[in-house]
Amino acid sequence: MHHTHGKAATDVPQPDYFVFNRHNLTEAERIIARYPSGRQQSAVMPLLTLAQKQHDNWLPKAAMDYIADMLGMPPIKVYEVATFYTMYNVRPVGRYHVQLCTTTPCWLRGSDGIAKACEHHLGVRMGETTFDGMFTLSEAECLGACVNAPMMQVSSAAGDAYFEDLTPENVTEVLDGLAAGRSVTPGSQSGRISSEPAGGLTSLKDTKRQAG
Ligand code: FES
Repeated sequence: MHHTHGKAATDVPQPDYFVFNRHNLTEAERIIARYPSGRQQSAVMPLLTLAQKQHDNWLPKAAMDYIADMLGMPPIKVYEVATFYTMYNVRPVGRYHVQLCTTTPCWLRGSDGIAKACEHHLGVRMGETTFDGMFTLSEAECLGACVNAPMMQVSSAAGDAYFEDLTPENVTEVLDGLAAGRSVTPGSQSGRISSEPAGGLTSLKDTKRQAG
């Protein structure tokens, strides 16, 4: 899940200041307390997640410095973590962050076509944000839903949702739904239940409800 869009952003406006709000401060203390004394640095990943959620889904330098200070670690160590994993954004993202999996199983099931459909429909390339600030399109490494490949994760203030069994047609419907503020249903877009065979059940037909 190492990512391609690089280091802490020097080319975007950075706030001078970041602190956890009261709720997240309590949450951070609870997380830090999970680790033995002297091992508080192990909390760096969940704390980065908290900070990102508090700050429009991206991590300004001030937030990384704040967490470094809180955990008594060199800021560079925090930047290294934040820039290594795709789930952290070190630059602003759109209201919906579309993370399209392009690892081998999703690729074999057509992720190239999904990427083209998204780029065409949104009018952006991978790594870019639409002019209206609604969508950022990113490439992601395996998100662990290969059984229903190809798939994408969409992150927003509402949380993270997986959309699976994508086709160029149904992915544009999902994007249109999000843009219009309609409620869209995560999970398989082909209607299969969990990861049942795409062509319908081949066994246990008597004991399980037929998909679709
Ligand atoms: S390869 Fe796409 S979810 Fe695993």
